[in-house]
Amino acid sequence: MDFDTLLVHSGRASAPAVQAVNAPLVRASTVVFDTLDSYKQAQRGTVFDGPRYGRSGTPTTFELQRAMAALCGAQACIATSCGLSAITAVLSAYAGPGKHLLLSAGVYGPARNFCEKELAPTGTEIEFFAHGADVSQLLRDTTSLVWIETPASLTMEMLDVRAICAAARARGIPVGADSTWGTPLFFDAHGLGIDISMHAATKFISGHSDVMLGLVTGSRDALQRVRAYCERSGTHAAPDACWLALRGLRTLGVRMRRHEASALAVARWLQQQPSVRRVLFPALESDPGHALWRAQFSGAAGPFTIELAPCTEEAFARFIDTLRLFGLGTSWGGFESLVMPAVPHHLRALSGAADAPRLVRLHVGLEDPSDLCQDLAGAFEASTS
Ligand SMILES: Cc1ncc(COP(=O)(O)O)c(C=O)c1O
Repeated sequence: MDFDTLLVHSGRASAPAVQAVNAPLVRASTVVFDTLDSYKQAQRGTVFDGPRYGRSGTPTTFELQRAMAALCGAQACIATSCGLSAITAVLSAYAGPGKHLLLSAGVYGPARNFCEKELAPTGTEIEFFAHGADVSQLLRDTTSLVWIETPASLTMEMLDVRAICAAARARGIPVGADSTWGTPLFFDAHGLGIDISMHAATKFISGHSDVMLGLVTGSRDALQRVRAYCERSGTHAAPDACWLALRGLRTLGVRMRRHEASALAVARWLQQQPSVRRVLFPALESDPGHALWRAQFSGAAGPFTIELAPCTEEAFARFIDTLRLFGLGTSWGGFESLVMPAVPHHLRALSGAADAPRLVRLHVGLEDPSDLCQDLAGAFEASTS
């Protein structure tokens, strides 16, 4: 089935039983069984699907997990409480004393923090590689996982996913990826060779800025350790969040195509503005990552970064504070536009230089793009007057 058809029809198997279009919301801590035999069956092994106890999910969780697995062309999916907990579950499952985790430098900042503050002190060797590095030279016998994010959080550099996966596969090492920006619509993570793909469903999948949720997809084998870690650590998603994410999924296709078209229109307009030094957005032909984006993505999600011309802190504050349609907030992926001063952890870590460039991350929402450009024009005017 085509992706758009799957968006509409997957994750609804339990709907006919309640004569509704949508799967019912099932909240439960306790799961009860008819017989001792069915109880014993449920307790066996690692579960990806099927009720056992509230922490392993309810029928609502399983509907979302099955839908997401189908959309990503994966065998299984695990839902967690938020995107960060999905990342930390994967990293924790593959970490351990003497093990080596190799991560792209531009991973989401809190993922870097987790590695440095939680995993490194207990003996996991953490290494970050710069964009363009030859990963095959960095793999060790002890490397247990390569973790990547492309485009990089905030700085938007692209990675060559196929090359990284090929190098890791040659050594039998799994590759995990934060695929949030691409969404399952624009980024076929497993098709490119990624073993474990993770989405902060908080963003585009939910799409309405009212849900915290993480989703991890892969083969049952690749996810076995992650699922076991989630069971041991109590990492799970609330059924209410899963239900809202299922609702968000239905419109993912139309929303993403609109986000893409509007983001491109706003980005091209920004390239013409004297107050803007650079637009970091791989979907633009002028971007250094454009060829890699074209080769690996079928669309562009929308969040991108701009570098403003040097200005005082007061002028910068006037720019941000004058914006009316762009809310000031640290998230993205919702229907509404957002702006945020970008402080990339990896730039701080790699170069030691503080946040010298005036980087600003924009999330282009579903508003009319010419209204958004007008809002930005007013803010540029206020900052330079
Ligand atoms: C790329 C990326 N991955 C993961 C996350 C974490 O998701 P959550 O906020 O649901 O923990 C974020 C949040 O901003 C993100 O931008």
